[in-house]
Amino acid sequence: MATGATRGMVDVLVIFGPNLNMLGTREPEIYGADSMADIMRALSDQAADLDRRIEMMQSNEEGVLVTAIQKARGDAAAILFNLAAYTHTSVALRDALAMFDGPKVEVHLSNNDRREAFRQVSLTAAVSDGSIVGFGADSFRLGLDAAHRLLLRRDGAGAMRQIRGGDP
Ligand code: DQA
Repeated sequence: MATGATRGMVDVLVIFGPNLNMLGTREPEIYGADSMADIMRALSDQAADLDRRIEMMQSNEEGVLVTAIQKARGDAAAILFNLAAYTHTSVALRDALAMFDGPKVEVHLSNNDRREAFRQVSLTAAVSDGSIVGFGADSFRLGLDAAHRLLLRRDGAGAMRQIRGGDP
């Protein structure tokens, strides 16, 4: 474990919101050809390279997502999330995220700012450290890198030493 998580915790909880289980066949001209399983596999490999423990989950249900974020308070050091359509509608998910005090990174495959007006509003961006949008499946990869860096920054020099390895 690089840093961030104390015993029994994961470093980063990765949350996939509604309809992201359909990636690959769902409007591929907008969301790309990668399935959610492809993205999860790539994130697992990346986490191993970064020496981070991650956990990933997907739900189409708002309440399940709220409960997952509440539970992350004791279980995860950081959250990386794509709440999909709930990004634009869910005060409940925003409130759940506001209670989580570790790093929070929002990602979207598509560039919401170039799409319909309703997608240009994110209720969750203001309670996140930052957002990465518009890079397709790479948004998740960039997002995991951002969460990793935020944990390094928060945990300071001790963490950097562990990452480099070998320092006394
Ligand atoms: C999305 C953008 C949302 O507007 C949309 O509802 C999604 C996917 C994205 O990753 O581009 O389901 O979050």
